[in-house]
Amino acid sequence: MKKLIVGNWKMNGSLAANQSLVQAMLGGLAGQAPASHMALCAPSPYLAQLQLLLTGSAIAWGAQDVSSQEQGAFTGEVSAVMLKDFACRYAIVGHSERRQYHGETDSVVAAKAQRALAAGITPIACVGETLAEREAGQTEVVVKRQLAAVIHAVAHCTSEIVVAYEPVWAIGTGQTATPEQAQSVHAVLRGQIAAATEHPERVHILYGGSMNAANAASLLAQPDIDGGLIGGASLKAADFLQIVAAGA
Ligand code: 13P
Repeated sequence: MKKLIVGNWKMNGSLAANQSLVQAMLGGLAGQAPASHMALCAPSPYLAQLQLLLTGSAIAWGAQDVSSQEQGAFTGEVSAVMLKDFACRYAIVGHSERRQYHGETDSVVAAKAQRALAAGITPIACVGETLAEREAGQTEVVVKRQLAAVIHAVAHCTSEIVVAYEPVWAIGTGQTATPEQAQSVHAVLRGQIAAATEHPERVHILYGGSMNAANAASLLAQPDIDGGLIGGASLKAADFLQIVAAGA
């Protein structure tokens, strides 16, 4: 399967900075098909800009969150249908920063995944254990519980989601999971997906957490690591393109 490399810009950027970053990425591709599928997930106000800059290019775009509600009196929320209006292909759901700072529960995350799919957007459902959970030997239990909620909600559409394993202790810390650590969790997730769909091999399972130009190739060489969800390194065109190339 062709790898999928997704940039998560988090709360970074500006009209001017985004434009130079995207132009540097497009320039680096030089009209050639990238070795991996590519997408960029921007803060909502910049989705229109990405649509303008990326339509017709090899780079898809998406949002970093989506409302669990359909529409109405939910001040500050952005619905899946609105994201679709801006041709978003993806929406990240259940990022650990949303679980941690916004109290998102497994059931809220599952509802978000379902809303995205219903609007024709591929949810990138994030799972991952904290350091305390890993040290307590709870990694498998935690990621399976998080993914089970999403699978239960999307049911027969499980083969249409993207899953991202992001160990919380590896995010933004420079402390990447080893390829073996990541692979062993990815294998567990693949098994869980296999119990829910006939085509577990169609589901991209991304790794995220301090993935960079130097360590991408060894992570992406693992049999169940189908791509990456990249934070910091997605803000540098050359680094991001090196990760994309490492997926060849
Ligand atoms: P970093 O690549 O900055 O560690 O962030 C990973 C992440 O959270 C992507 O969603």
